[in-house]
Parts: sequence; structure tokens; C-alpha cells
Amino acid sequence: VQNITIAIDGFSSTGKSTVAKQLAKHLGYIYVDTGAMYRAVTLFTMQNGWIDADHFDVMALVSNLDKVSISFTFNPDLGFAEVYLNGKNVEKQIRTLEVSSFVSKVAAIPEVRYQLVKQQQQMGKDKGVVMDGRDIGTVVFPYAELKIFMTASAEKRATRRYNELIERGDNVQYEDVLRNVQERDYIDSHREDSPLVKAEDAIEIDNSDLSLEEQFDKVLGLVQMTL
Ligand code: C5P
Repeated sequence: VQNITIAIDGFSSTGKSTVAKQLAKHLGYIYVDTGAMYRAVTLFTMQNGWIDADHFDVMALVSNLDKVSISFTFNPDLGFAEVYLNGKNVEKQIRTLEVSSFVSKVAAIPEVRYQLVKQQQQMGKDKGVVMDGRDIGTVVFPYAELKIFMTASAEKRATRRYNELIERGDNVQYEDVLRNVQERDYIDSHREDSPLVKAEDAIEIDNSDLSLEEQFDKVLGLVQMTL
């Protein structure tokens, strides 16, 4: 059987990564979490003091992009790859609400996207990859054999993200998580460079009322039809 490219796009916290990871494991494919890459660049920007609630030094970031190195290393205990920023595991640090509050601004910068998209295309060049993000089916792999566009209501998505953060021990308010999800969706869909849109040939799945098993079965069915 031939390896294919599977692109999973959609709004924030639709559970894209959960299904993408399951699928990659099931198929023996590589999984690439492109959101983690934008989050790592955001962390780098924060660490250098170039972004906070009321300022963003885009020039400083853009002129130092060559100092950002992002890589993934498979963690056998977790069963998936973790993201490294300049050689340091930042998997935990990139998932905070603070990083989430800046990431869409950083991801709107064309120079940032250019660099990360190039790396993503390189990682998926041999196919056998499940990649999730916002522009995978439209920009990164417009010729992907299977494109899925995941949706769910904003409240459902915020509840899931809130539960994740609470489970990790983060002290967050539901309203702040909901606002962040809505803000990111707005910025991601309205930016000039590679806005979040459903690719014409993507198959939409609304998982508001699907269990993880039902969602996985649905996606696996689509894969089997494509292979
Ligand atoms: O997928 P996740 O929610 O972790 O992504 C974080 C942010 O990174 C998104 O809100 C979006 O701004 C940006 N992103 C992007 N393009 C991608 C993946 C993520 O712009 N392919």
C-alpha cells in the first residue's frame, strides 16, 4: 500500500492533534504538530522580551529568525514526538494560556510562516505523514491525498481546552480560555497570509457530539477509502 499525506486543519482545540496522533500511530506514519512550531517561535519571542500584552517588536523577531531552531524528538514513553526549541524540550512551556494569547500574532507574520512551512514540507516530503494545523491542506500540502477540516462549537472547544489546562495544574478561568479560543479563531481566519479556510477538497467533520472513538472510526474510514 502506498503512503499518503494526510492534512488535518481546523479551528483551535477541535481535537485535531488527538485524532492525528491516533491515526499516525495506527498507520505507522509520522505525526507533525505544526501548532507546536508556531508556539515554539512564540516562546522564543517572549523569552527575548519582544512581545507582551501591549507591544510586539516584529522587526526584532524577523531579523533573528535564523537563531530559531525547532525540532521534534520521539518520546517512547508518551508515544509521540516532543518539540524542542534550540535543543531544549519546551513541550510543556508552549502549552500555557500565555503562549496561546500571543501565538496567533506571531503566526500572522509572513517571514515566520515562510520558514516553518519550508520545514514542514521537508518533514513530509516522503509522505506517510499526518500533519495538523491551519493551512496544511491549503498551503503546506495542497496536493495531500486526504484533507480533513475539523470543527466544533466554540463552547465545546473551550471546555476541552479548559479541562486540559486544569488537569495540568494551571490556574485558569473558563471565560479566559473561551475568549482566547475565539480571539485566535478570529485572527487565524482573518490574517492576510495563509488564513484558516477549509480547502475546497477537504472533508468537514463536526465533532461537537462525537466521542473520540466515533471520531477516530470516521477518520479511519476516510483513510481506507483514500488508500
Ligand atoms: O494548533 P494550535 O492551537 O496549537 O496552534 C496554535 C496557533 O498557531 C494557532 O492558533 C495559529 O495561530 C497558529 N498556527 C498556524 N498555522 C498552523 C498551525 C498553527 O498559524 N499550521
